[in-house]
Amino acid sequence: MEVVIQPNADIATDLVAQVIANELRANPRLVIGLATGRTMESVYARLVQLHRKEGLDFSACHTFNLDEYVGLPGSHRNSYRHYMNHNLFLNVNVDLRNTHLPNGAAPDIDAECERYEKLIAQCGGIDLQLLGIGLAGHLGFNEPVSSLHSRTRIKVLSPVTRSQNEPLFTTPDEMPRRAITMGVGTILEARRCLLLATGEDKAEIVARAIEGPVTSMISATALQFHPHCTVVLDEAAASRLQEADYYRWIFENEPQWQSCFNESNASGLNGSPVNSKRRKRVITPV
Ligand code: GLP
Repeated sequence: MEVVIQPNADIATDLVAQVIANELRANPRLVIGLATGRTMESVYARLVQLHRKEGLDFSACHTFNLDEYVGLPGSHRNSYRHYMNHNLFLNVNVDLRNTHLPNGAAPDIDAECERYEKLIAQCGGIDLQLLGIGLAGHLGFNEPVSSLHSRTRIKVLSPVTRSQNEPLFTTPDEMPRRAITMGVGTILEARRCLLLATGEDKAEIVARAIEGPVTSMISATALQFHPHCTVVLDEAAASRLQEADYYRWIFENEPQWQSCFNESNASGLNGSPVNSKRRKRVITPV
């Protein structure tokens, strides 16, 4: 696992967008696993900027989202289909037919889960899986005691997840109690995982996910098994890590990361090119 600590949420988010953009430029037919949540909104806003300013091309890629609420049709304002359409899909040149989410309104949920797994396999598997982390330590909606081998299936949402996401609904009762989610096993099969967490409220669960023992109580700990997983954090989310200085030193001395900061790849999303000078400034040597 690579742990990359950036000074603030904006720079961490820029870096994640750059990693996605670089992978997409290298392979226009990339199969991207996508996540939802508040943290991802700014990642998608940056990808939209990259598309508009630099022509980042989504036309040949395929996408698979992690999860969807059971009972919400894609037209519902709180469905993840609606979230994805409005935060990303309708603002870039992706072919909507190549964008996939589980259908939370399917009459047969088990059949829908099976269909989703088959579709991922038919597309050749996920190349790059973008991830957030819930306060319960979940990936997707893999709530506590999710099997670390689990596949796409229905899960009952935990009280922590409910209280984290209820404010997004008009009334708390409107929030579904169940969701379809890719399993932990499904996520671990992605060729690369890229997790972004920002903010002080994630610090405790991030430390447990990265440095704690692997447990089905915190599905994000399963990422410790993944051969190519990058975790990008801001200082606030990294504030409880025991080995933060070690991770900073590795990143500072890792030449291949230069590619995320050189001018041909980086956007200057905030109006200025991201160059090696900026890199020196944003990374604190230890
Ligand atoms: C939801 C999603 C998760 C996501 C989490 C984080 O629960 N199902 O995939 O990681 O939100 O949300 P936020 O970024 O709002 O903290």
